[in-house]
Amino acid sequence: MMSNTRALKPAWLIAIALLFPVMGFAAAETTAVRVELSLRHDRPGAKINRELYGQFAEHLGRGIYEGIWVGEDSKIPNTRGFRNDVLAALKELRIPVIRWPGGCFADEYHWRDGIGPRSARPVRVNTNWGSVEENNAFGTHEYFDLVEMLGAQAYIAGNLGTGSPHEMAEWLEYITSDSHSTLAELRRKNGRDKPWKIAYWGVGNESWGCGGNMRPEHYADLYRNYTSFLKTPNDNHPQFVASGGYNDLTVWTEVLAKNIPSNIDGISHHYYTIPTSVWEKKGSATGFPEEEWISTLEGALKMDGYIQANRKILEKRDPDNKVKLYVDEWGTWYDPAPGVREGSLYQENTLRDALVAAINFTIFHKHADRVRMANIAQTVNVLQAMILTDGAKMVRTPTYYAFKMHLPFQDATFLPVEIKKSARYMLGGHEVPSAMVTAALGRDGKIHIALTNLDPNKAAAVAVDLQGYAATVARGLILTADRMDAANTFDRPDNVKPRPVEYKIGPAGLHVDLPPKSFVVLSLESKTGDIR
Ligand code: AHR
Repeated sequence: MMSNTRALKPAWLIAIALLFPVMGFAAAETTAVRVELSLRHDRPGAKINRELYGQFAEHLGRGIYEGIWVGEDSKIPNTRGFRNDVLAALKELRIPVIRWPGGCFADEYHWRDGIGPRSARPVRVNTNWGSVEENNAFGTHEYFDLVEMLGAQAYIAGNLGTGSPHEMAEWLEYITSDSHSTLAELRRKNGRDKPWKIAYWGVGNESWGCGGNMRPEHYADLYRNYTSFLKTPNDNHPQFVASGGYNDLTVWTEVLAKNIPSNIDGISHHYYTIPTSVWEKKGSATGFPEEEWISTLEGALKMDGYIQANRKILEKRDPDNKVKLYVDEWGTWYDPAPGVREGSLYQENTLRDALVAAINFTIFHKHADRVRMANIAQTVNVLQAMILTDGAKMVRTPTYYAFKMHLPFQDATFLPVEIKKSARYMLGGHEVPSAMVTAALGRDGKIHIALTNLDPNKAAAVAVDLQGYAATVARGLILTADRMDAANTFDRPDNVKPRPVEYKIGPAGLHVDLPPKSFVVLSLESKTGDIR
């Protein structure tokens, strides 16, 4: 049996001792499942591209307006119209990339509506999302202001559905041209001298559905046509992203990989996790039964198979790994809560969502050689959000903390972990592994391990054989709560928050007692000391 001595500061000992009865930890520890792992630090894999921790922010509900942008005249403290509280919280996530303006919105968005004096911008109807008025106050200049303030890369989804190759080409010229063309001068007149950097360019969105209801063959031809006219200076050429399939569909990847021989850097794939199998009755974000806890996590795990199926096709068609897979929409999607405005996709976010995020990160890391970007839907007030706002109030969700805890994995090198012994958590015909693990060698030179206990009732006693890796202590953060649907509310914004943990490493390796429904992210270190 490995050493399991916790070397916590006395204050933490007291705090955690007080928490144990609330978390049901003491009761669960007697029935802990055993998990045995072996860390293969001698077999490093692909780089975990930091863009796997990307975001998606659409003109939808209160995602942009109210959530990010309140305008300069708002009473909510802001910088050039951007909420200061949201900006500060997002900066902590070191967001690598933000996809904008949609989603379905993208294929009805005409970029000229969103430039020039705001008072002169046209008002349109956002037909996809509740037919609300879109006053275009947030446009190209505001988007790039946001990404530059956050230090993120830009990913624009262009309008293929109701636009034209000419309109799309002009937008790209407006953004990237350093010439004295009329469009570059228009950008300067509107306040931006230098071109902006654009990292990714999506050619339409969900072209099988809201983006135009197309067949993949037709889309492939349109893609070839549009991209022929998308020209930029050589040093500012975005990766071109084709709109791909969703869920278990592979036909889009197959047809696009076959029919688009050039001008393609990635294929997008979307998958949303819902607790049930019926879209019209997805299930509730809170107050759900345990059956919907496990079915949601089981649903999240399907991401692995969907990626696997698509990468298999790419491996055949593109053995040199030139065309990447971008999961540029993922996350949970629940039924709207009573009173939530139709089409706003505002939903509560609980511990369950944080575990869904941890599961997805584990899967993305495993496929890091082919899956080079993923974008959670969406950043603020929409679907599985990082942040929820109510007027001037703001809360960080459990998903926010899942992203923050996984920061050491950005640009780290994947390390495989062999599972020697594990268990299954089962209920009502659903089944998931009790525990999940992912590990990487960080850019800081340390090994980072994330462990997730999916079982809401039983602790997991996890033994990690470090295969001779010299470390004496594992330090990090744990996220758990008393209830499966524990959330951060505007009255209790710190209800679900990570807490520091520390585990000594003995001669036999690392031993972690994971409470039920929790995950931990640890860094292996070779010296003991204070928790930072
Ligand atoms: O994220 C919400 C919507 O889900 C997006 O607009 C669309 O692309 C997808 O169907």
